[in-house]
Amino acid sequence: MTATIDTAWSNPLRDSRDKRLPRIAGPCSLVIFGVTGDLARRKLMPAVYDLAARGLLPPSFALVGFARRDWDDQDFGQIVHDAVREHSRTPFREEVWERLSEGFRFVQGAFDDDAAFDQLSEVLADLDRQRGTDGNHAFYLSIPPGAFPTVCEQLQRSGLADQTDEHWRRVVIEKPFGHDLTSAQELNAVVNRVFPEDAVFRIDHYLGKETVQNILALRFANQLFDPLWSSHYVDHVQITMAEDIGLGGRAGYYDGIGAARDVIQNHLLQLLALVAMEEPVSFEPRELQNEKIKVLSATRNVLPLELNTARGQYGPGWQGSTEVPGLVDEEGFAQDSITETYAAIAVEVDSRRWAGVPFYLRTGKRLGRRVTEIALVFKRAPHLPFDKTMTEELGENALVIRVQPDEGITLRFGSKVPGSSMQVRDVNMDFSYGQAFTESSPEAYERLILDVLLGEPSLFPVNDEVELSWKILDPVLRAWADSGRPDTYESGTWGPRSADEMMNRVGRTWRRP
Ligand code: BG6
Repeated sequence: MTATIDTAWSNPLRDSRDKRLPRIAGPCSLVIFGVTGDLARRKLMPAVYDLAARGLLPPSFALVGFARRDWDDQDFGQIVHDAVREHSRTPFREEVWERLSEGFRFVQGAFDDDAAFDQLSEVLADLDRQRGTDGNHAFYLSIPPGAFPTVCEQLQRSGLADQTDEHWRRVVIEKPFGHDLTSAQELNAVVNRVFPEDAVFRIDHYLGKETVQNILALRFANQLFDPLWSSHYVDHVQITMAEDIGLGGRAGYYDGIGAARDVIQNHLLQLLALVAMEEPVSFEPRELQNEKIKVLSATRNVLPLELNTARGQYGPGWQGSTEVPGLVDEEGFAQDSITETYAAIAVEVDSRRWAGVPFYLRTGKRLGRRVTEIALVFKRAPHLPFDKTMTEELGENALVIRVQPDEGITLRFGSKVPGSSMQVRDVNMDFSYGQAFTESSPEAYERLILDVLLGEPSLFPVNDEVELSWKILDPVLRAWADSGRPDTYESGTWGPRSADEMMNRVGRTWRRP
């Protein structure tokens, strides 16, 4: 018997393409459901234009909008035009626009309207013939999850979800992926009945951010940080996603969902996974996903939940020089809404590397300022051979990954204050994207849409990750549901008192970024 060797594994040159070259999508069309929504206007349409402007879409590319609105192709083109003018990252160039807009089509209809889906099917077939999109279609469901079953069934009924060797069909779904584990499983079953798992792209737009992908470079391209990256040196980790905006205009989506489901279940647990995971064997999608899955399966809440979580709802206050209303006075929210706009949880990762190191995850609306960061806060030096008064201003060493808005990395450590005494104080060593690189970073949605069209799944959480994240969050949500109203915090501050108490109780404080 001869042993066979899997050459895909054994041949390091199997993919000899120079990975620095830009990857350009092949012939295809992108169909957006929910094209009248905010996400489509602010993020998706501008991202499509930016990709075209960077030369990353093929000449045959087509963009199809599907909605109930009484629009024709021209009206749709005008909507995309306005969205691009207002929100695109790269400057508007007439020649790029001309070429791109030739591939715009609009299909009017409701999600339960068979005729509309038959028409969509005809429009896509026409595009295949006229523009050469080759039968490759990505369906972007920028719609409430309640509409997923109907749209998926319609795509199946009209043959648009059929996979063959000649063409691909992919579906892109936006969160919320359910509102707890059970509903997430149901939702996934609905999608998987029509699209196989490798054709499903779940968007977590944080993974599309340059600064988030840089966590992998920081950790696995350097020797400097790894020895410090464990319970031997790290006291705790704080992952913060703070926003200064309120929820005016978003009641339909947000009321009853709240900060933990909106941000912790997806963005913050994904950041935790990237910070805590082991080095993957390679950056092949499966390898990366496996490492994240391992971390999420080893993550558990710090108990008791009443003392190790906090939630709050913003009341009236001041955001800079503007007076702002509390949540319950925002349009669409009821006076007795108990939706939390601030959430903090403490978790631990049961692994050799992280045992005993708490990870504190917090997010909130109407906080002091907009900032997302990951801070590894180090243990104090075991001994300080200085006079006590000399180190009164010395805090803990910290490595801070500044995800946004001032993208970069800060290392905080103690330094001698110039002068005749040995006084020590915290100083920062900074890397800033703005100074180190000349080009501006692509928007997260540019990267993610391009990856969908290329069929590159690395930056999309798989179903296991979604389910494990709900398993972590569900007990917290249940405990909160049983404990009445969230605390109120003044807009423009850093959250409810209970959040500070949660940290103070264990001798720690939240960072004030
Ligand atoms: C979304 C949340 O996923 O992320 C919003 O639903 C939040 O509530 C947004 O405002 C923040 O995204 P970014 O990229 O501005 O940090």
